[in-house]
Order: sequence, then structure tokens, then C-alpha cells
Amino acid sequence: MINKISTLGGYIHEYQKSVANPREFWEQIAHEFYWHKKWDKVLDWDFREPRIEWFKNGKLNITENIFERNLFTRGNQPAIIWEPNDPNDQNRILTYNELYREVCKFANVLLSMGIRKGDRVAIYMPMIPELAISMLACARIGAVHSIVFAGFSANSLADRIIDAEAKIVLTSDGAYRGSKTIPIKEIVDEALETCPSVEHVVMVERTREKVAVKAGRDHLWSDLMQSASHENQAVEVDSEDMLFILYTSGSTGKPKGIVHTTGGYMVYAAYTFKNVFQYSDGDVYFCSADIGWITGHSYIIYGPLLNGATSLMFEGIPTYPDGGRYWDIVNKYNVNQFYTAPTAIRALMALGQQFVENKGMPSLKVLGSVGEPINEMAWHWYHDHVGNNRCPIVDTWWQTETGGIAISPLAGIIPTKPSFATLPMPGIQPVIVDHEGKELAGRSVEGILCIKFPWPGMLRTIYGDHERFKQTYFSNYDNLYFSGDGVKRDEDGYYRILGRVDDVINVSGHRMGTAEVENAINAHPLVNESAVVGYPHDIKGQGIFAFVVCGELSTGGEEGIKTSILKAVSKIIGPIAKPDKILLVSGLPKTRSGKIMRRILRKIAEGETASFGDTTTLLDPGVVNEIVSAAQKLK
Ligand code: WTA
Repeated sequence: MINKISTLGGYIHEYQKSVANPREFWEQIAHEFYWHKKWDKVLDWDFREPRIEWFKNGKLNITENIFERNLFTRGNQPAIIWEPNDPNDQNRILTYNELYREVCKFANVLLSMGIRKGDRVAIYMPMIPELAISMLACARIGAVHSIVFAGFSANSLADRIIDAEAKIVLTSDGAYRGSKTIPIKEIVDEALETCPSVEHVVMVERTREKVAVKAGRDHLWSDLMQSASHENQAVEVDSEDMLFILYTSGSTGKPKGIVHTTGGYMVYAAYTFKNVFQYSDGDVYFCSADIGWITGHSYIIYGPLLNGATSLMFEGIPTYPDGGRYWDIVNKYNVNQFYTAPTAIRALMALGQQFVENKGMPSLKVLGSVGEPINEMAWHWYHDHVGNNRCPIVDTWWQTETGGIAISPLAGIIPTKPSFATLPMPGIQPVIVDHEGKELAGRSVEGILCIKFPWPGMLRTIYGDHERFKQTYFSNYDNLYFSGDGVKRDEDGYYRILGRVDDVINVSGHRMGTAEVENAINAHPLVNESAVVGYPHDIKGQGIFAFVVCGELSTGGEEGIKTSILKAVSKIIGPIAKPDKILLVSGLPKTRSGKIMRRILRKIAEGETASFGDTTTLLDPGVVNEIVSAAQKLK
């Protein structure tokens, strides 16, 4: 059992221990898990190379740490509670015994299809129990899962399948999302037209709509499971063998395949889950994220299940059938910990009090927030109306790259302050640097957030591109992990995350590279060039503002071209990347060397009309006035 910190003094003590002697600190926690063979060395690292290895030569299987380790005591306890999109449909509750059985069966299915340790498995599924079963079955046989959020387009899915050279795709016929049905299999079929590495597709029947079936390649989940044995011996892997790849957007180029390995990730996800949420046996925990993102990986599946917790998985959306859905789920299952994103809080807040008042929610003990800065107004609404003024809010800062929560209050232990992620988790050594990389020590400083010592959950590389890994995270500042976020440390030593300092924008908690969106817009035949920036958006946190230069307008005029740009972006990336505002301009503000001055565009997108700082390096300063007056006319 992982030790749970229970007092502020206990946190301070643990934190100091983790900094003074990180190897001993993490080794002690790692001993709580089941290993076939223990490691030779706790940690080997060099941020300059870069190389990070935790518990190297330790042999284990993460699913044995979920199942075999728990079955004697918790076999009949719910592992996953699945709430369907439609509240009137049948829910599903899988006990540890039942989930174990399904995972073993599907592990045998994967083996029978020739999938072996190290092979990549792409998963493109809605939030149904088979998604959880699929990922755990991969881990069971040492295969590497690469889950692609089911809101991405066929194009994006194909890019990810090709980059990972996945042999098999696990999917469903369709998906339910609120009142909509999404043709998932159709998207997979389109993607696979360009993916020669894929030999098999396994499809879960969820919506039971008619879909095309390619003989020899496509198989039904239910057919394969019917004849599969439920006995399966877990495959032993090394602590540093890959557990999964998860693609995320960066400031340049195509999405990066973030690689997480087994031992360190396991220890970190489990440790942070238990301590941040202060989970106690018998609690019901509900994280509303999608498993297609890192939050779902670490805090719907691995973190909770490694602790023998009951994790609630929700297929639908917060506004279906009405804006009270989350609160109804909380009451239906007596949820104790609820974890969601600020964008959802703001959207529900905007619907008005009627959906939340009178819900009571006496079971709630802890509220969590993740994915983007939570503004004070949303924080207070969450605290007062959802938590009835009595539940601590854990504002958890972390990233796909960190694997688990890195800066956050421990619920009820570290006093909170609205919009502050407060203090680092044990094992995390944050530093704040200025643009030159000089460390800004002490309190009341603001700069760029870096981390100076490895932690077990951190990424190990970018799949297939170690050089990019080095460039992205370890080349900006010597011997430091660069997070990409701006941060402030206040007079109490508390951290407040200020948002990205690179060309990544955060739209409804989804990370988006501005370059990626620009590339999609530029693919439109009438577009010459474009520049995309983020701007403050009441609900989404940031909205996408696209400045677009067209050669000529088609017959549809301005509106026609805007509509077709939106369509193109949806097709190339997915609907989540559609710009909120498109401004057609005749030119972009560029320096004499041809570099777009995004600083100016960001200001215009924020509504600034006059003060743009130094514009003397602009090739044509007149273009700024033209853009400003066009922007003022935009609704
Ligand atoms: C942002 C999500 C402020 C941040 C787990 C980070 C946050 C990016 C917070 C990672 C928070 C995440 N407060 N900003 N509590 N949590 N972020 O990879 O900019 O999808 O770099 O991981 O989200 O997004 P990702």
C-alpha cells in the first residue's frame, strides 16, 4: 500500500525527503508494487543527452499490479462503473474480477492476431468499457497502446497510425455523443486508405449501425471474445519498456508521439492519484476526461486501478440530456472525488444555477481541475455551487509529458488559493528561469517553468525522433526540462500557472499547435498564407483566431471561403481545431527578414487597437492599421 500523506507537516517532510534523496524516496514507493525482479539501479539520468531511466532492469507487468495484486481483497469490488451517454440506457459495472477476465480474454485475442510485445496498437474508440479493456490488454502482453482521441479526423488518425507503425486498430462502429451519433468506423476506413502497416481492425458494436466490413481485415469484437480463453499469463517487461505512446501538439511541426515507459509511470501515476485526491478505500472517483487524453490514461485508468479504486467512466457529455448531467451522475453513484476541466465548469456555469441548485451532492469530498488555468470566477462557482463550500479544490498542473500531476494541492492538506496550483508534488523540483535561462530564486518571481531533476513519470523520448525530444525539452535551458508554461511564484511560495509561452494554444483544455492549424488552413487552394494565435475566450479559455491572406475570393465571397476553411480544418485535424474567428487580410505584419510578428497579432486578437510596442522592424507598418480596422468590423 502506498503511504498516504495526511498532514501539512507530513507533506513538508515527504517533500524534503524527496529532494534530499530522490532515489531512496522513490525506491521505497516502488517496493510497494509487485515485480518479478527488482531493479539494478533506481535512477540513471542525463538531461543533456538526454536519457532518463528509472528502475532499470526491474521486471514487471503493470496489469499484475492492478489485478493479481488486488484480486484476493477486492475481486468483487467495482473497478469501473460505466455510465452510458443516455441516462436511460443500461449502465455497466465491472468488478475487478470481471474486468480481469475481460482483459485476459482480449489479451488472448491480441495474441491470436499475432500482436506481440513491443508492437504498436492504435485505439480509436469512444468512452466505452472496451476502451479500458483494450488498453489494459495491450499492457498485459507488453504491446504499446497509442490511443487517438475519437474527435480527431481521419487524416489525424492516419498520421498517428503511420508514425507509430501500428499493426492493428481497435475501434467501434459508431459513437454516441449527446444527441449525435458519430460514424467512427467510417473515419477509420478512410484513415486506413493510407496506412499500409495495419493488418487487422477489431470493431466493437456500440451503435449497431450498418458499416462497411473489409473481409480478412475487419473482425467483430464480440466474435473474437466469444471463443477466447480467460486465462492469460502476463508478459514480463522491463521497467523501461514502452507502455504507451500518446500524441500531443507542439509549437512546430506534426504532433509528437510522447513515450511513457512502464515502471516509473506506474509508480508515479499511482502515488499522485492517491495523494492528490486522498482516495480512501470504498470511495467512488469520477474523472470526466476522455481516455484519449493523458488525464484519462493516468487518472481514469492507471492511477485509480493501481490503487484498487472504483473509477467512473462516462460516455457522454456534460450537457446531455441537460446541464445537470454530471451532478446527476455524482448523486446516482455517490461520487466522492470529481475531477474535470475549467472549460466544462465555465460552460456549466454559463447555463445558470438551475441545473446545479438542489442537487445537494452530499457525497462529494474533493473537487479537481486540470488542463488549463482556472480563473477565479470559475473556481468560486465550482467551490460554492458544486462543492457546497465544503470541498477542497485541487488545481492540478501537469502535462502529457509529465505523465502525472506535478504541481497541485493535496486535497484538504495543502491550503488552496483560487487559481494557484500551489505546491510541487514530492519528487518535483520546479525552477523558474528568465528568457536567458537564469534561475529566478526566491519568492515573488515570474518566468518560465522548468524542472531540474527527473521524476519517475516523465516522458522518455518522442517516438522515432529522439533528437526532437532533445530539442523540444532540453535545449532551451541547460540541464533543465522545459515545460513551455509561464509561471509565477508568490510571496507564499505558491505556484500560479500563467499559460503557454510557446506557440501552443489551449482551447477547451485541448492542446493545439498554431503551426498545425496554419498548415491545415494553408492547404486550402485559395489561401496564400495564414497566422493563427490564441485569444481569451469566456468558455474555452482560449479561442483560435486566424488571420488569412487569400489570393482571390471564390464565388461564395468572404463567407464562402470562411466556411470552406472551417471544413478544411475539420477534415485535416478535427472539429476541435476549427478557428473561432477568421479575418481575411491582405497581408501579415512581417519583419524585414520575413518573420511574422505574432506579438502584434495576439494583441489585435485580444482587441487592442493602438499600442503595439516597437513596430520599427516591420517591413510594412501600414498593414497593422489595416488589420486593426478589419478586426473591429469582425463580430
Ligand atoms: C496546461 C493535460 C494551468 C498547461 C494534463 C500545460 C494547466 C498543458 C493546468 C498540458 C493547470 C494543464 N493550470 N494550466 N492546472 N493543467 N495546464 O498535455 O499549459 O493536454 O502545459 O496535459 O495544459 O496539456 P496536456
